[in-house]
Amino acid sequence: MKTPKRYLITAALPYANGLKHIGHLAGAYLPADIYVRYLKAQQRDVVFVCGSDEHGTAIPIQATKEGTTAQAIIDKYHPIIEQNFKDLGIAFDIYHRTSDPLHHETAAAFFSNLEAKGDLETKTTEQYFDETANTFLADRYIKGTCPSCGNNEAYGDQCEKCGKTLSPEELINPVSTLSGKAPIKKSTTHWYLPLNRHEDFLRDWIIKEHSDDWRPAVVGQCKSWIDGGLQPRAVTRDLDWGIKVPIKGAEGKVLYVWFDAPIGYISATKQWALNNNKDWSPYWNDKETKLVHFIGKDNIVFHCIIFPVMLHLNGHILPENVPANEFMNLEGDKMSTSKGWSIEMEDYINKWIKKENGGEALADCLRFYLTSIAPESKDSEFTWKGFQDAVNGELVSIFANFINRTWVLMHKLCNGKVPPIHQDLLDNEDLAIMQAVKDTTAKVTDLLEQYKFRDAQFEVINLARLGNQYMQKKEPWIVAKQIGTDPNAQAKIDNCMHACLQLSANLAILIHPFLPFTAKKMCHLMKVVDKMLEWENAGSFNLLKVGYTLRAPELLFRKIEDEEIAAELAQLQANAAVKKTTMENTTTESTGPNPLKPEIVFDDFAKIDLRVGTIIEAKKVEKADKLLELLVDLGFEQRTILSGIAMHFNPEDIVGKQVTIVANLAPRKMRGIESKGMILMAEDAAGKLYFVNPTEGIAPGSGIS
Ligand code: 2FM
Ligand code: ZN
Repeated sequence: MKTPKRYLITAALPYANGLKHIGHLAGAYLPADIYVRYLKAQQRDVVFVCGSDEHGTAIPIQATKEGTTAQAIIDKYHPIIEQNFKDLGIAFDIYHRTSDPLHHETAAAFFSNLEAKGDLETKTTEQYFDETANTFLADRYIKGTCPSCGNNEAYGDQCEKCGKTLSPEELINPVSTLSGKAPIKKSTTHWYLPLNRHEDFLRDWIIKEHSDDWRPAVVGQCKSWIDGGLQPRAVTRDLDWGIKVPIKGAEGKVLYVWFDAPIGYISATKQWALNNNKDWSPYWNDKETKLVHFIGKDNIVFHCIIFPVMLHLNGHILPENVPANEFMNLEGDKMSTSKGWSIEMEDYINKWIKKENGGEALADCLRFYLTSIAPESKDSEFTWKGFQDAVNGELVSIFANFINRTWVLMHKLCNGKVPPIHQDLLDNEDLAIMQAVKDTTAKVTDLLEQYKFRDAQFEVINLARLGNQYMQKKEPWIVAKQIGTDPNAQAKIDNCMHACLQLSANLAILIHPFLPFTAKKMCHLMKVVDKMLEWENAGSFNLLKVGYTLRAPELLFRKIEDEEIAAELAQLQANAAVKKTTMENTTTESTGPNPLKPEIVFDDFAKIDLRVGTIIEAKKVEKADKLLELLVDLGFEQRTILSGIAMHFNPEDIVGKQVTIVANLAPRKMRGIESKGMILMAEDAAGKLYFVNPTEGIAPGSGIS
């Protein structure tokens, strides 16, 4: 394929509703960064865009959880996530925000253009409405019983217990999470993108053009969507958080988050162009631009079906590839921040990178392990033991070991200078290692072009392994003992060390897209500028000038200790336990109203004699933590009533209170005291108790009916 004139690389815009974990990093951002660094090392014209996805219900829902506003949530998480990416070496050209006015304008104009061309259609349907909160309910704001597993905490879009995708209509006994009340159905009009009109376009573009160069799982998912028949997709919502629908009469409606978010790639490019005095337009409109979207597999339909239709209708280019990754699990379970079963980028940075001098090496350790288990064709699994083995067994024992031995020996046997090469003494081993560098460069290039980052990184490490084997065969430290007896001894050492140094320089170039901090440190050791890392230099054996003095050896990586791994595992279990308790408490609070008891007839109710009483004495019952003994004045008599409210009220605080009594309840003996009746109490979702009493004082004994 002809080399594209320019590249526009995108990585899925993360929701700015919380910290992002290393599964997110491995899914989209790390592979995108590797690819971009490789392209930039080739001097290609590349723009790498990303930013915060700041709309959708995820944001206001988090705001409710944190007891703050949606704006405060995005303002809190946007800078944290941006900095986390920087600390892990993810080098976006711009990290934009969908709350930015430029994005609002761009997305609104996109919508208006499609609307004006007749590419959208409107439809009026009945949707759930909360009368108390006076608002239509987004799917996430409706809870009910899952028809599949019976979980009564299922959301209107998904049951998190059994994983089933749901629509609000499928929920049994739906309840609004805003008011706790059952919603009503109310009609509302929305704009739809009629995907059904574009099935042929999508089939031709994906199945005919890209079956061979896209990942099979991506093509497979698209094919099954298209074969299943595409439906019109609503692109507006009744919500007060988002981009206002730019049409008169559409007040109270915003663009659906999945309509506006991918347009965020365009607005980010526009902002980048403004910042750099460039023109954004060829990046989205010129066919010679190669557009690649890096995403996780849950985003495939949006990037391969919906957004391409939007791009196509608006006259933009389409992605050349969408190398979606599968998921990365953690220690045998799905990664989940809400369940505490995850490693947040922020935590890794604070615990590993920021804690020690030269901690950037630990950013590269994480990058290395994540790429070595990249879920490119199937789900993969992060384990702390695997992390330790990868770092200690490959980065330390193979890569760093080769560089360190080279530097130590070069200082010991060649005065710390790049030794000359003696052509007449070059042997097959020397020629083979030179050839290996060329072969590896070709292989890595080819694999990177195919988005096979895991295999590409493996090849680079393998080259370091070959370097170790080469040095082991050459044994320059043994040859050194023959100086004085073998007139060629120093020349042989020179040839070996020259090859090892040139190989080290090549390793720096090839490892740079994967481990940028390490490549930089290697440039420091070699006393060369970053320019040496240009990809066209790979394969050359003339990178370091003969006679050039190099710096003293420094270790590139340190070993990961067993205790560090044990501490991480313990922390993970502890985090999960804390979240579980919090979730259980929240669940109890948010279960909404208790289910109603079975229906009764009026005669059943009429049997209950409810009376107003006044508490005239109250005291604790000995050896019964929960009971208070109350003397209640019913006007016509005074009664002793035991009530299980001792944990909630001090006896002295309730004397004089009016209460409602079930006056004809059969007497019952507790702790040797006869209780004659029952005090009615109300209990809120948090378990707090309230007396049920008349708002104004009323004569004791008055009946209630
Ligand atoms: O799944 C997500 O996290 C979305 N915020 C991704 C959006 S990608 C793009 F379309 F902006
Ligand atoms: Zn379920």
